[in-house]
Amino acid sequence: MSAKKSSATILTFFNPECKPETLAMKVGPYNLSNKCFLAPMAGVTDLPFRLLCRKLGAGYTVTEMISADLKLWHSPKSAQRRSHMGEPAPRAVQIVGSDPEQLAQAAQFNVDHGADIIDINMGCPAKKVCKVLAGSALLADEALVKRILSRVVHAVNVPVTLKIRTGTDQNHKNGVEIARIAEDCGIQMLTVHGRTRACRFHGHAEYSTICKIKKSINIPVVANGDINSPEKAKKVLAITNADAIMIGRAAQGQPWLFRQIDHYLKFNEKLEAPPLAEIRTIILNHLQELYSLYGKQQGVRIARKHIGWYLDNMIGSLQFKKKVFSVADADVQFDMVRSYLQDAEFKMENVA
Ligand SMILES: Cc1cc2nc3c(=O)[nH]c(=O)nc-3n(C[C@H](O)[C@H](O)[C@H](O)COP(=O)(O)O)c2cc1C
Repeated sequence: MSAKKSSATILTFFNPECKPETLAMKVGPYNLSNKCFLAPMAGVTDLPFRLLCRKLGAGYTVTEMISADLKLWHSPKSAQRRSHMGEPAPRAVQIVGSDPEQLAQAAQFNVDHGADIIDINMGCPAKKVCKVLAGSALLADEALVKRILSRVVHAVNVPVTLKIRTGTDQNHKNGVEIARIAEDCGIQMLTVHGRTRACRFHGHAEYSTICKIKKSINIPVVANGDINSPEKAKKVLAITNADAIMIGRAAQGQPWLFRQIDHYLKFNEKLEAPPLAEIRTIILNHLQELYSLYGKQQGVRIARKHIGWYLDNMIGSLQFKKKVFSVADADVQFDMVRSYLQDAEFKMENVA
């Protein structure tokens, strides 16, 4: 078994003679360490994954979306989603909803529970979110967008940011109008996923609308969608002139991608993926963090998808994945993954 990643122009260490080409950015009072952000992903970007990505080079992370519905705030799921234990500032919490008053209360509630930044979700295309006119469905109602943004900005004394798509569909790309509304309402950073609501996750993200948005406002703009390599990150920054990039799916199973992208943006050289020994430590620590946040019974289920993503990047893991996914005991799961990775490392060393 070996790592599948490309091995062109590779370094495993920082070259001190290279000078950083790019400076990081600021959100409100917070200086971010770089311009390579983790995208909020429901069911993925929980506290353990955010901490891991921060440690491995993400300059900024956001929680999974949390409903603004008061009835759900005290559910165990919402409480887990709100956990910031050990998380460095700024702790950004994303809220989703459609009622300005409810969103304002949710923002205040989260600030009271440790949020340093409130992010509003107007990008989610999921049916269960859009059927209550929330997420990306809101883009069709600019007057409501304005009411929501100004109400939330006035409700809290922390920066409020917004995440959108380019519009509702190909014929209604109102991203520029929404961006202007956001700036006028006091939003301090705008993230744009280069797809419309109708596109969902189909086709390719496009960046020309993000470029238009960047030209039309003065607050920081973050470009998002289909960024999966250092070269793509650099290209998207060049096309859009955005202040930062945000990565979602490509970080699944390779959270060290942030370190690689950050290094490439700063020094124009590529860093190799970590050696298997480091990957093993990353994965095993991640599993332990999941068991400890969710408890072993729930943790073992949540760990499966991460194990799957980690192993997707390794050749010859199919049989093992089938076996490990059927295990319901966290200790057995952990031991299986540990010995699989140890064997893989041993084989690599003996091939080399
Ligand atoms: C599993 C999954 C869950 C997501 N959950 C959220 C969410 O909670 N809030 C949000 O704003 N976007 C959410 N998104 C969208 C991502 O933040 C991002 O905009 C999208 O995946 C495009 O970026 P990518 O191509 O780098 O993945 C989710 C995406 C995925 C794949």
